[in-house]
Amino acid sequence: MKKFTSVTDVTNINDLVKQALAYKANPFADKQLGAGKRIGMLFLNPSMRTRISTQVAAQNLGMESIVFNIDKEGWALEFAEGAVMNGTTVEHIKDAAPIMSEYFDILCIRTFPSLKNKTDDYSELVLQQFIAHTNIPVVSMESATLHPLQSLADIITITENQTAKKPKVVLTWAPHVKPLPQCVANSFAQWMNAWGEADFVIAHPEGYELDPSFTKGATITHNQDEALKDADFVYVKNWSSYNDYGVASCHDQSWMLTQEKLKLTNEGKVMHCLPVRRNIELSDEILDSESSIVTQQAANRVWSAQTVLSNILKSMN
Ligand code: CP
Repeated sequence: MKKFTSVTDVTNINDLVKQALAYKANPFADKQLGAGKRIGMLFLNPSMRTRISTQVAAQNLGMESIVFNIDKEGWALEFAEGAVMNGTTVEHIKDAAPIMSEYFDILCIRTFPSLKNKTDDYSELVLQQFIAHTNIPVVSMESATLHPLQSLADIITITENQTAKKPKVVLTWAPHVKPLPQCVANSFAQWMNAWGEADFVIAHPEGYELDPSFTKGATITHNQDEALKDADFVYVKNWSSYNDYGVASCHDQSWMLTQEKLKLTNEGKVMHCLPVRRNIELSDEILDSESSIVTQQAANRVWSAQTVLSNILKSMN
């Protein structure tokens, strides 16, 4: 594996899941693999799970990690080609990124979308510029359109909990108080479709269609109850509109998953990438019930990251 920014960087999802579960059973199996190697973790946005799980994963592989909250502690970066830098930006990506190749062996980046400029966001302007101006492997810790480390952890979690050979997995939109990126939903859809081992359904209100390049192959409905019927897994997530870009005009609380709605499912397990707004996106009664597997899902972020870093390290050695 030369980089990890999308499911398109993966040869075989089930092989990764197997490796992840092996690391879960034996976290220090490859504790020398990353000896003498260092990852740089650049955060342009906040994080808890991604930051900690990736650091734990790196440490399990014998790597050193350095975290840099570039948005708060670094110079303001300029990304525009040919910019006359007489404003607020201090350092061009063309000058900053190559230095990362000198300090680190692997570069991990978190960069959220603006939700204002769809063209820049969906071309992954920031992530792609880091890739273009470094010569080391780059790992996405959530980018403008995708969150692949989360999606791999999601499939690991489904694999651990599935009882049916081909489970029904429903990604359902949920209300929120502010516009959120489409990344988690896009990425989950992309991975589920590539995995192909589930009956995958997406439910959302009208106007919340995701980019079809990620959802192609899924069943899409505006009827949440119909989607939930006999579901084995229900992945709850809010996202803002892709077509009316970044707009979040729907606050219909009837889309919040409740125990009553969960009765429609096949004792469905409830997933969410976290953080979650309680009693807006998901009710207390669900999050505090045995139906919720959100903590297991977050814990699996370690094995997702460890598997990805391990595959990259093996390709470097
Ligand atoms: N799910 C997830 O990426 O969590 P953090 O934003 O806390 O990293």
